[in-house]
This record gives sequence, structure tokens and C-alpha cells, in this order.
Amino acid sequence: MSTLHSPATDLIEGGVTDLDEVMATMQIAFDPAFGEAWTRSQCSGILGLNGVWLLLARQDGRAAGFALSRVVLDEAELLLLAVQPAQRRFGIGRALLAAVAEEARFRGAARLHLEMREGNPAAYLYEAAGFAEIGRRKRYYRGRDGSSFDAITLACRL
Ligand SMILES: CC(C)(COP(=O)(O)OP(=O)(O)OC[C@H]1O[C@@H](n2cnc3c(N)ncnc32)[C@H](O)[C@@H]1OP(=O)(O)O)[C@@H](O)C(=O)NCCC(=O)NCCS
Repeated sequence: MSTLHSPATDLIEGGVTDLDEVMATMQIAFDPAFGEAWTRSQCSGILGLNGVWLLLARQDGRAAGFALSRVVLDEAELLLLAVQPAQRRFGIGRALLAAVAEEARFRGAARLHLEMREGNPAAYLYEAAGFAEIGRRKRYYRGRDGSSFDAITLACRL
């Protein structure tokens, strides 16, 4: 009889010491055509601020994705969500998003919002989780070739 192996996903709180892991995922998860990825210094800068937390997703101990979030008073923001291309469509993004919402609620937030490039298929994930569009920033993202893309602001009640 063959042995079936189902990879286990762990969600772990991370910090500045996990930046190598975050940046490795960042580089392969975000298409440079759209200008959505953050630099290492942007990540390390924000990780030092009050109310910011990092959640790492690991599959069988290996980096699979991460979520970077912050809470200010009763408003939480999902700053970045990324899953490595080879690990997509296994529910890791949904699990990270649910864990961010739970932690945001625990930290006192009543609403979770985020910004997303118009046309990003991540919209399906957010819509299914109850997010709705509340605003738009024209030409917010700038791609490698100089083209720009609107950002849509989404929010959901916690
Ligand atoms: C968006 C992202 C985090 C989703 O991660 P993921 O682990 O693949 O997401 P999940 O497997 O949890 O998907 C949950 C559901 O969301 C929807 N979904 C996710 N990605 C989708 C896609 N590319 N197209 C259509 N629906 C999608 C589906 O309904 C999916 O459920 P299903 O697979 O049972 O149909 C991942 O695609 C990613 O890292 N993208 C690049 C970075 C990025 O754009 N991040 C968001 C910035 S705002």
C-alpha cells in the first residue's frame, strides 16, 4: 500500500530575523511588471513600528508565504500577502487572510482594509472573504516599464 503524504501548513509569527525568508518569497511571488513588491528596507522599517506583525506560512517546514499587517486603533490593514507560485491554490492565502483577520480582531480592530492592483486575481480571494471596494487610487502602482495601475481599496468588517 502506498503512503499518501499531505503537506502540513504552519502559520508562525515572524519578525525582522525572518526577512531573508520574506524577501525570497517577495521576489518570486510578485510580478515586477506591476510594481507591487516592497524592498527589504521598506519591510524592515515597517516591522519596527508599533502595531505591525508578520505571519509566515511554512509547508513541511519550508517557506510558502507570508502576510504583513498593522493595526492602528480600530483599523487594521493587510499590507502584503504573498504565496510562492508553486504553493498556490492549496488554501495558504485563505488561511493567512483568516489568521490576519483573527489577530486584527484580537488587537481591537473593527475593520480590515487593503489595497490591491486593479485586475489582480487576488480579488477572488478577497471577495470570497467578504471584502468590498471602498475606494480607488489612480495610477498608484508603477511597473518596471513605467506603466501605471490603479489601486483599489477593499475593506471588510471584522
Ligand atoms: C493572491 C495569493 C496570495 C493567493 O494565494 P493562494 O494560496 O493561491 O490562495 P488560496 O489557495 O488560499 O485561494 C483561495 C481562493 O481564492 C481564489 N483564488 C486565489 N487565487 C486565484 C486566482 N489566481 N484566480 C482565481 N481565483 C483565485 C479561489 O477562489 C481560491 O479557492 P479555490 O482554489 O478553492 O478555487 C497568491 O496568488 C499570490 O501570492 N499572488 C501574488 C501576490 C499578490 O498579488 N498578493 C496580493 C496583493 S493584494
